Amino acid sequence: MSFDRSLKIAPSILAADFANFGAEIQAVEAQGADWIHVDVMDGHFVPNITFGPATCAAIRPHIRTVMDVHLMIAPVDPYIDAFAAAGADFITAHVEAGPHIHRTLQAIRGAGCKAGVALNPGTPAEAVAPLLDMVDMVCVMTVNPGFGGQKFIHACVDKVRTLRSLIGDREIHIEIDGGVDPATAPLVRDAGADVLVAGSAVFRGGSVSDPSPYGANIRAIRAAVTA
Ligand code: DX5
Ligand code: ZN
Repeated sequence: MSFDRSLKIAPSILAADFANFGAEIQAVEAQGADWIHVDVMDGHFVPNITFGPATCAAIRPHIRTVMDVHLMIAPVDPYIDAFAAAGADFITAHVEAGPHIHRTLQAIRGAGCKAGVALNPGTPAEAVAPLLDMVDMVCVMTVNPGFGGQKFIHACVDKVRTLRSLIGDREIHIEIDGGVDPATAPLVRDAGADVLVAGSAVFRGGSVSDPSPYGANIRAIRAAVTA
């Protein structure tokens, strides 16, 4: 996978039909998704539970783009090998998930995956400054993690700008997660983000039997950014 800062839209399957992930993934990729964002929640680090490595392994054959696994779990380390074996391209762990994020990121790369570090809205950009030589992506949460469909927190936009300047020339993606839609996408793109996760704003109005709204929703985000 070569590095570039072109705009990438990563639909979150948190907003898809949980009984039909394979078909949902194929539909949203056919409609223009660049990556597939997979939200893993444990009911402990965040107040919601989704799924684990077995589901990731089951959906992997349906993903032709990039499998972007966002771990909202604590602890992380005991599960890294299982998510790597499930076929994750990126594994992102939260800086708040434990005292040894440095070790966690080493383990993610050691398992052969790209390493991401995520920041909750209450955590400053500087928290990842000592980690920038060991990550491939920083994920800036623009909602409090746990649920789809929440309102974008505008105070996080300045953090993206700070992060972009801390990153400098390093080949590190900036991903935005939470409340991304055609109104908020341009704000974070202008601040330096290249990967935009979107759940409700992509899946709204469509279904596996009527997937064209997925395409229209993705194009609306792209158009807002390039306008
Ligand atoms: C929230 C998840 C997000 C979520 C985004 O905890 O990490 O990926 O699915 O959903 P929307 O786009 O609906 O805010
Ligand atoms: Zn996510």
